[in-house]
Amino acid sequence: MGVSRTAVWKVIGQLKEEGYEIEGVKNRGYHITSIPDVMTEAEIGSRLHTKVMGRCCICYEETDSTNTRAKRLADEGKPHGTLVCAEAQTGGKGRRGRSWSSPPGEAIYMSLLLKPRIDPVHTSMLTLVMGLAAARACNKVLKHRLGEKAVKVQVKWPNDLVLEGRKLAGILTELSTEVDYINHIVTGIGINVNTAAFPKEIESTASSLYLATGKTFSRAELTVCCMEEFENCYETFLRTEDLSALKEEYESLLVNKGRQVQVLEPGHAYTGRALGINENGELLVEREDGQVLPVYAGEVSVRGIYGYV
Ligand code: BTN
Repeated sequence: MGVSRTAVWKVIGQLKEEGYEIEGVKNRGYHITSIPDVMTEAEIGSRLHTKVMGRCCICYEETDSTNTRAKRLADEGKPHGTLVCAEAQTGGKGRRGRSWSSPPGEAIYMSLLLKPRIDPVHTSMLTLVMGLAAARACNKVLKHRLGEKAVKVQVKWPNDLVLEGRKLAGILTELSTEVDYINHIVTGIGINVNTAAFPKEIESTASSLYLATGKTFSRAELTVCCMEEFENCYETFLRTEDLSALKEEYESLLVNKGRQVQVLEPGHAYTGRALGINENGELLVEREDGQVLPVYAGEVSVRGIYGYV
């Protein structure tokens, strides 16, 4: 192959530094005995079989926020489907101006850049599309590892994934538009994968795949699975620009369904029973007088009346 032994030896040395365990057998070659859990372009790219999502993948050791990075990369002309990942974020952003704790090495922090030709009013549905895709992906890797008895990841409308009643992941979708034209959308997700402990403030409401199962998972593998499921759900969404074909599956995973919820809109709060979602991705809440109100995702927050779900 025109590569000298010294060149190969050098690369093997680099890989060992990155955490790969490699055995060498004299006169035969090398083989990898253990792969580190790293979020690199090589680990993600070598597993990916999508058509568009994540084909352009950019990984950082550390960045302010993968959402902010993705927006900057959009301005620099990066294509639709670009995936931005980081081992750690110094300014991880949550919804409603909150921050997102983002220490290195244990969770997924990723953002997907989209440039769809859809009506800007339909974009809030993309948070639900990402939620469904990520829940599918988590359930796939859980089932693969633990079989049929695996715990199940659910969705909490509009932007959380839930495991055993605790928050496993959060989604933040940001939009850059002209009056009637979308420049780009960035949908970012943080998934607690191998997290063993959380900061005090969220310790009672957060969970990770590791805490719920006692097992660690490959973050690169889960990232790839999310991209594959997202591509699939996104194609379905684009056919109708609504959730008509995804609604049934979404509702089967909806942790709020049939429960009493508290709807917190800016300056206005009320309670009711969550019935499901409509084709536009609004949560249908039945009030005590029997009236059913569609709740638009925007700035709203929905909680259980006694706690997080
Ligand atoms: C929330 O639940 O409030 C949403 C949290 C979204 C966190 C992710 S981590 C990757 C991406 N980059 C960010 O700065 N935020 C999102």
